[in-house]
Amino acid sequence: MTTTPSDKALVPFVSVDHMMQLIHYIGAEDMLRGLADYIEVDFRRWQLFDKTPRVASHSAEGVIELMPTSDGDVYGFKYVNGHPKNTREGLQTVTAFGLLADVASGYPVLLSEMTLLTAMRTAATSALVARLLAPKHSKVMAMIGNGAQSEFQTLAMKAICGLREVRLYDTDRAATEKCAANLAGLGLTVTQCTTAEEAILGAQIITTCTADKQYATILSDNMIGSGVHINAIGGDCPGKTELAPAILQRSEIFVEYPEQTRVEGEIQQLAEDHPVTEIWQVLTGAAEGRCSDEQITLFDSVGFAIEDFSALRYVRDQLQATGLYTALDMLADPDDPRDLFGMLQRARSD
Ligand SMILES: NC(=O)c1ccc[n+]([C@@H]2O[C@H](COP(=O)([O-])OP(=O)(O)OC[C@H]3O[C@@H](n4cnc5c(N)ncnc54)[C@H](O)[C@@H]3O)[C@@H](O)[C@H]2O)c1
Repeated sequence: MTTTPSDKALVPFVSVDHMMQLIHYIGAEDMLRGLADYIEVDFRRWQLFDKTPRVASHSAEGVIELMPTSDGDVYGFKYVNGHPKNTREGLQTVTAFGLLADVASGYPVLLSEMTLLTAMRTAATSALVARLLAPKHSKVMAMIGNGAQSEFQTLAMKAICGLREVRLYDTDRAATEKCAANLAGLGLTVTQCTTAEEAILGAQIITTCTADKQYATILSDNMIGSGVHINAIGGDCPGKTELAPAILQRSEIFVEYPEQTRVEGEIQQLAEDHPVTEIWQVLTGAAEGRCSDEQITLFDSVGFAIEDFSALRYVRDQLQATGLYTALDMLADPDDPRDLFGMLQRARSD
C-alpha cells in the first residue's frame, strides 16, 4: 500500500539541478557576494558556535570528512570527500552534500547537494578574506591549479575584490585551456601561462588550488616577493601542502580555526605554537589584518564547518521565493508518535 506522507515527513531537498538553476537565477557573481555576506555575519558571531575540527577518515587514496557545527538554534553538517586521483577515473576530486536541522526538535529542515555549493562557498570565503588582507587595489591574480575550483575562485575575486586579470597555470595544459574557455566573456583579462613563475608575474594575489595527496612545492621561496597576498586553498589534509616552509616563515598567517588548520593546513609544517591570526578576529576588529604594503599575507585555507553552515543558511533563505527544491519524504511520521511499528504494519501490501 502506498501512503501519502504528511507535511511533517517532508524535508526540502536541493538537487544538483536545482542548485544550478538557483545559481543562474540569482547570478553567479551576486550569489558569491550573498554567500560572502552570510559567511561574514556568521564569522562575526564566531564565539556563539559549537566548533570542532572536522572528523576525517583517511585512506590510501583520499579522505572522507564530516563537518558539524551549531549556533544553538540551527545545527548543520557537511559530508565531503577529497580524492586527488578521481579525475583520472572521470570522477570529481571533491563531492559533498549537507544538512541543516532545527536544534529545538532535532528535525532536519534542509538537505542539499554541496559539490557546487562547496565550490561557491570556498570561493566566497577566499574573496572575503582577500578583500580584508590583499594589497589595496589588487587587480591581478595568479591562479595555480586550474581544476574544478579555479573558475569559482576567479569569479569571486572579480565580484568581491574587483579583480581585472587572471593568470592561469596548471601542470596539465588541458586544465588551463578549459579554465580559460570557461572564463572567456566574463569581463576579465585571461592569460594562459606555461610556468608558475610566469603566472605570478605582476600578480598581487596568488591562489594555489592544486590537488595532490602529498607534500608538494607549488610555490618556492624565491618565487614570492614582498607585498602579495597568498590564498592557499589546496593544502588541506595531513601530509598535503603546497608552499615551501620558508614562505610561511616570511608571511603573516591567517587561518579559519587554528585547531583544525594546525593539523591540515600549510602550518602543519611549522612549530605548534607558531603565531597565527584568526580571520573572525580581523573581521570584528579584535586583530589587525595587513599592516604594511610590503607584508606577505597568507590565508592558509582548509575550509571550516561554519562556512558550510552559512552557505546552507543562504540556500534555505532562497527556497520560498524560488521554489527550487523537492519535498523529500525523509522523516517517518506515524499518527501516534510512539506507534512507528503500527505505521509499518499498515503499509503492508499483502
Ligand atoms: N580550502 C578549502 O576550503 C577547499 C575547498 C575545496 C577544495 N579544496 C582543495 O582544493 C584543491 C583543488 O580542488 P579541485 O576540486 O579544483 O581539484 P581538481 O583535481 O579538479 O584540480 C586540481 C588541479 O591541480 C592541478 N595540479 C596538480 N599539481 C599541480 C602542480 N604542481 N602545479 C600546478 N597545477 C597542479 C591538476 O592538474 C588539476 O588540474 C584540492 O586539493 C581540494 O582538496 C580546498
